[in-house]
Amino acid sequence: MNEAQLKKLDQTVLGWLDTVHDTVLKRVTQRMRVDTKAGHRDLVTNVDRETEQFYVDAIRRFDPKAKILGEEGFGDAVNDMAGRVWFVDPIDGTMNFVKQQAEFATMLALYEDGQPVMAWIMDVVNHDIVHGGPAYGVYHNDTPLATPKDTGLADGLIILSGARLLYEQFGFPEVAKAALGFRVYGSAGISYLHVLTGKAVGYASNMKPWDYAAGTLLGEALGFKVGKIDDQPMNMLISGTVLVATQQAYSDIMAIERDL
Ligand code: IPD
Ligand code: CA
Ligand code: CA
Ligand code: CA
Repeated sequence: MNEAQLKKLDQTVLGWLDTVHDTVLKRVTQRMRVDTKAGHRDLVTNVDRETEQFYVDAIRRFDPKAKILGEEGFGDAVNDMAGRVWFVDPIDGTMNFVKQQAEFATMLALYEDGQPVMAWIMDVVNHDIVHGGPAYGVYHNDTPLATPKDTGLADGLIILSGARLLYEQFGFPEVAKAALGFRVYGSAGISYLHVLTGKAVGYASNMKPWDYAAGTLLGEALGFKVGKIDDQPMNMLISGTVLVATQQAYSDIMAIERDL
């Protein structure tokens, strides 16, 4: 895509995010339907579903040939990365959304033939957006973001998944102890925003493709290192424990992994 096409794409999706911001904030004041999926802690609401349906309709109008991989199943069954593939996480941090009405995000990412094109992450309550891509640059709202300072684990905050930490998997407790401090936010999108804007040196969590597609694209575009904590190659269509971090924090964490 050329610069003008990328600009049009960005403006279009930013328009969708405005709509989602207004609609979702209105919806939290109304009665919500909360259902469970895989277990009693795996929540989904009518707002998750309606928001995904909104994105799917908007993408189909704007980019009819694309495939859509959405968490709530309103998109397509996507088996490969050929062509244009949109990843959609309508409400990321549904537990926070239901219990706190805050600290939740919405995320979209577009890849073409497996190559990153553009992604968007919005802290919905604060209308705070990181968006962009490798050929476009990455912006925090209207401000261009620069590659972050290469801070190591001992000098920064690491954001971790609560479950991996609690159940002492993949050396998460050791990583937390080696960091200056650790945080658990309960939303991949909110966590990525902290990393991308330089407030934390890294984020690691067990995630599904729609949880990590946007953060991976934006992180790599900004010069962060992204990979699987078990050192397996990234495959955008499978779940895994994914780490995004400054180059230094990434090698600090992988050194801990190797010593386990
Ligand atoms: C979840 C959140 C959470 C992460 C889970 C995700 P959801 O997304 O990002 O922080 O630990 O792995 O599934 O289900 O609320 O969109
Ligand atoms: Ca979910
Ligand atoms: Ca999610
Ligand atoms: Ca979600």
